Formats: sequence, structure tokens, C-alpha cells
Amino acid sequence: MLEKIKNTASFIQDKTNFQPEVGIILGTGLGGLVKEIKIEHTIDYGDIPNFPVSTVAGHHGRLIFGELGGKKIVAMQGRFHFYEGYPIEMVIFPVRVMKYLGIKNLFVSNASGGVHPDFEIGDLMIINDHINLITNPLIGENIPELGPRFLDMSEAYDKALVAKAKQIAADNKLKVQEGCYVATTGPTFETPKEYQYFRIIGGDAVGMSTVPEVIAARHMGIPCFAISIITDLGVPGKIVEVTHEEVQKVAAKAETKMTLIMKELISQI
Ligand code: HPA
Repeated sequence: MLEKIKNTASFIQDKTNFQPEVGIILGTGLGGLVKEIKIEHTIDYGDIPNFPVSTVAGHHGRLIFGELGGKKIVAMQGRFHFYEGYPIEMVIFPVRVMKYLGIKNLFVSNASGGVHPDFEIGDLMIINDHINLITNPLIGENIPELGPRFLDMSEAYDKALVAKAKQIAADNKLKVQEGCYVATTGPTFETPKEYQYFRIIGGDAVGMSTVPEVIAARHMGIPCFAISIITDLGVPGKIVEVTHEEVQKVAAKAETKMTLIMKELISQI
């Protein structure tokens, strides 16, 4: 595995001769940030040795190299979900490759269903903790060069980055929520009782991504920041039918706010 990670990283390095300091994973319908990147190189996932290929509608599959907020970044346009059927170690493979490309921080965005009763559709939620109900991506033989066997998770989401993001939101008069993201396998959305259960166990929102990548990044000592667009509500009395299309529509509307926060945060690190 380690050799595959290193081979893939050196392939990319040879192709781009680019040293990113920041990694970004762009989630559902969050294309807005791409327009802000001064793109220098792109590589389709299909052209990268050992990379899986994205299958979900609305997820392009390419790595973008360029400048954002004055920083050299690599962005994944299209991510790999466990529900697509990839082994969990393939879901996190790109993050491990990004570490070998040189990233020092990881920024992630996603869409989720809100289970906090005060949340509204279109809200942004800064993720300050998670509950992982997907399998753990570190199960299996540990790779000591990447990180420890037993990984501390007391600060999965970097407190300083969370504080900075909240300040940026306040300075720009943008409403943001903050809370705990429950990660489920999907691909089904939740039943009303499942939403209720996620609320009872301490969740504020539920989604199908992000946590495997954050665990992989933390394993390698990379500070993480993640932000979620609440695209629907799993709150008693507010539950309506959810579709992938609706999720993307709401996400598209919240793009501008999310883009501003991400870009400003990246410029401040
Ligand atoms: N549940 C799970 N994943 C999601 C949801 C949801 O309600 N909305 C967007 N992604």
C-alpha cells in the first residue's frame, strides 16, 4: 500500500512539478470554489495510476492544482464514497497521496441532513466533531510511516481553524452553525427514526462522506477543517422526501457563502 501511495505521488509530481501546501476535497454541488482557483494543472482520476474512478452524478473526477487565497492547493473535484462499493482503503487513498504531495492542512466540504431542531435548510455547519458509523478506514495492518496504530481523536477538527472560520463568518455577517457530523454508509437517506436516533446519540447533522478522509488525514498528523451544507432536515415535523437532485440544488444556493469562508480561511493559514 505504502509503495502504491508513493508511486502515485511521484507520478503526479513528475507530471505537475507542483508542491501543494493545502489539500481540499470538494463535496456535492460545491463547484463554486473551483471558479476561485487559479488553475495550473488538472489530472483526470482515470489517468492517475492506482486511483479509483468516481461514479456519482455531479461528481467530476479530477485533481486540480493551482492557487487559492494565495496558497498552493490541490483539490479533489469528486470524491470516493464507501457506498459506491470501493474498499475503505481506496476511499482514503487520495488523501494519503496528497500527504506525499506535501499538504499541511486538509479542507473538506459536504452536504448533510440536519438533525438539530434549530437548523434550517441552506445553513452552513462547521464540523467540530464526528461520530463514525461507517467502518474505520485504519482497520488492517498499520503503516507506521503514516501514523500510529492507536490514533488519538480528541481534536479531529482543528480548534484554531474552527475559531478562525467562525470569526470570518461573523466578520462577513454570515450565519453559521457548528456541530457534530454523523457519518453513515448510505446510500439510503434516513428513516424518521434513524434521524431521531442520530440526534439522540449526539449528532447535529448526518451525511455519507468526509469522516474516512479526516481519519486518514489525522493518522498522518494533518490538521483538518470541514464544513457542511444542511440540504434537508431530519427533524420531527419537518421531514419531507429527500432526493439527490434537491440536495444538489440547495447546495448550489449555499455555494457563495461556503466559498467565501473557505477561501478566506485558506488565505489566513
Ligand atoms: N442524510 C444523509 N446524507 C445526506 C443527507 C441526509 O439527510 N442530506 C445530504 N446528504
